[in-house]
Amino acid sequence: MKNSPANDKDIELRNVTVKIRKTTILQDVSFYAKRGEILAIIGGSGAGKSTCLRVLTSQIKPTRGEVYIAGCDATKEEEKLKEILGYVPQPEEVSAYPEFSALKNAYFFGKMYNLPSDLIEKRARQILQILGFDTEEMMKKPFKNLSGGEKKRASICIGLIHNPKVLLLDEPLTGIDAHLRIELLNYLRDLNRQLGVTICIVAHDLETADYSDRIVILDRGRVAIFGEPKSFLRGLPNGGKCFRVKFKRLTVDDQKRVEKIKPIKYFLVVGRNTLKVFPKEGEHNLAGLVEEFYAKGLEPLELEETEATFGDYFRLFSQGAFGARKDIFSINFE
Ligand SMILES: Nc1ncnc2c1ncn2[C@@H]1O[C@H](COP(=O)(O)OP(=O)(O)OP(=O)(O)O)[C@@H](O)[C@H]1O
Ligand SMILES: [Mg+2]
Repeated sequence: MKNSPANDKDIELRNVTVKIRKTTILQDVSFYAKRGEILAIIGGSGAGKSTCLRVLTSQIKPTRGEVYIAGCDATKEEEKLKEILGYVPQPEEVSAYPEFSALKNAYFFGKMYNLPSDLIEKRARQILQILGFDTEEMMKKPFKNLSGGEKKRASICIGLIHNPKVLLLDEPLTGIDAHLRIELLNYLRDLNRQLGVTICIVAHDLETADYSDRIVILDRGRVAIFGEPKSFLRGLPNGGKCFRVKFKRLTVDDQKRVEKIKPIKYFLVVGRNTLKVFPKEGEHNLAGLVEEFYAKGLEPLELEETEATFGDYFRLFSQGAFGARKDIFSINFE
């Protein structure tokens, strides 16, 4: 099916294969994000994530397949692509001017798109504000004196200055502390909501999935999982509702005993002496579970009702909890 004006997909790869010399780097890769969504491309090193971005930015032409950004054929309309696409490279590739402030950098890059000065300033201030640059001093501090996380946010502002429909970010979270990763993900979600920009985040970590409307997990150049994290979680027993249970002790033998508890469908080790326990459908009953633990000689110390994260889902998936991979999901390109 060819792209039509009614298409509401802002990012789309259809059956993309990339071969460089005799090496296949992407094999029949298909995924999409609809307008206004956040898409995460997740995978280990060498999985093909950056290659997907290079295909989306038309730096690489696919050997086979189709690529669309906001209705524009990325393999053919390169000039148009520059207008509708914003790109935030990895930190070492960021081309910000170290002596210029975040505001002045945005101004400089905005001028490259021939935008009027007053419009650039208004837009830069709006974006920087959403990104937590809430004082004049911060907006005007030289880029080189900003912290790592602030530099990252200033480079996001540069990527957005020409008001693109789609923003691509290559590993924005790599190399920053856990709490700053969450902060940055929150900022990206604010940008997405307030500006309506469709966002694609390349990441190594699964925590990004919980901030995304759609995810694609790549494994050695192929799509392992594609879909909406929420719908995967809803597919778990009891819609993903589960318990975090800390035991007095938890040996490998104890875990074997947990396996024998009938109302438990799955469990994951999530910390020292701590399990996340997923009861079978309709058996989400704390008192009943506690009795079962005691009956097996286990002593639960702390119990807390909680929800599955996508990371939990993926661990269960990788352990084969849902059976053969090909049986549990299918990509539907209507
Ligand atoms: N120009 C090239 N020529 C040959 N092989 C390449 C080329 N570019 C990438 N590859 C190979 O393709 C695979 C995927 O590379 P890619 O850079 O897309 O991975 P990635 O998922 O971004 O990994 P990382 O997390 O390490 O950045 C790797 O095995 C890489 O060595
Ligand atoms: Mg990469």
